[in-house]
Amino acid sequence: MYDFNTIIDRAGTGSIKLDAAPEPVKGSCFVPLTIADMEFATAPAITRAIQRAAEHGIYGYTYADNAYFNAVKSWQSSRHCWDVFPEWLTTTAGVVSALGIAVRSFTEPGEGVIIQPPVYPPFASSVLNNGRRLVENPLLFENGGYKMDYANLERKCTEPDVKLMLLCSPHNPVGRVWSREELARVADICHRNGVIVVSDEIHNDLIMPGNTHTVFAKLPNALDNCIVCTAVSKTFNLAGLSCSNIFIPNKQLRERFSKRARNESGGCVPYFARAATIAAYTEGAEWLDSLITTVDNNFKLMYRFVEEHLPELSVIRAEGTYLAWMDMRSLGLDNDALEALMLKGYLALDEGYIFGTNGGGFERWNLAMPTELLHGALERLEAVVRSQRD
Ligand SMILES: Cc1ncc(COP(=O)(O)O)c(C=O)c1O
Repeated sequence: MYDFNTIIDRAGTGSIKLDAAPEPVKGSCFVPLTIADMEFATAPAITRAIQRAAEHGIYGYTYADNAYFNAVKSWQSSRHCWDVFPEWLTTTAGVVSALGIAVRSFTEPGEGVIIQPPVYPPFASSVLNNGRRLVENPLLFENGGYKMDYANLERKCTEPDVKLMLLCSPHNPVGRVWSREELARVADICHRNGVIVVSDEIHNDLIMPGNTHTVFAKLPNALDNCIVCTAVSKTFNLAGLSCSNIFIPNKQLRERFSKRARNESGGCVPYFARAATIAAYTEGAEWLDSLITTVDNNFKLMYRFVEEHLPELSVIRAEGTYLAWMDMRSLGLDNDALEALMLKGYLALDEGYIFGTNGGGFERWNLAMPTELLHGALERLEAVVRSQRD
């Protein structure tokens, strides 16, 4: 019913993925598999809402009014069984912006902030660019899957200057949808040690069949000790509208965060983002379900292809996100050589090392694209890996 097959040409639209792709992919007929936006048009209801908003002609300052909040609330309730209240909500110009605001609101220069690499690069830069100390609790990679290192987390949390943890849930790039039990252990450790948790849940709607996302704030001891970051941007391919919904149930934390957010970005909801969010959250559920089926089929295609054609490589089984994490360490290449090999096959991917500790030797693939494009990319992968073998 929805179209996830048409290949849409984005060249010349100022797309970072297309127009700023590395050579020789830039300008070629091959679509990059980098930055996390999708090669699918958003839900038709959202496009119509934006068209209606455009026809109005006045694009003034807009805010999170009742219509906006009610749409957000009903989505959180129906998709995540989470009851949210208007006073909890602060909007920011994206989740990365919220990470920086949180770091500046809840820590002083020089204090420690925990991250769990390999992880989305702005986690580290939000800490370092604000002059805070990066404290790492690297994920453990065992039996082909990732888990958290609770003993090390406990040790890091007891360091006296550690005040904040940036949690990626679901986790980009390894694709874990953390279970309730795993998150409950994090909530418990952080609560006991007075470490506030920023739970970046931007991928919360992109959950593959058989998995369930747990909102961090719903865990015991978490409600008063967390900041939950959500957005329509990943779910509905609306990243260019720069808007996210940040929930902070604790009044004191909220006041510190929202004051800074207002100072730094004015507290508006961008005009088109307001229209798009209302449409997404009231009319977008069916489209999202079809998107998830499409992405899940792409994951399965990739697993099958790699098993059959490239058994020396492996793909970590993704529970959520539309990002695949491929282990290419068996090729024995350093970061530069691996990147050069991929580009030789016209494969623009996100290099594992940019995700920090233990990311080297992996590649992150964005599978939110028509299956035909993914299939072509996998065939190019096979060809370059063969050329390397021979
Ligand atoms: C975990 C995570 N957080 C934040 C973002 C970006 O958020 P925004 O565009 O709202 O700043 C991404 C984008 O890929 C992401 O994967």
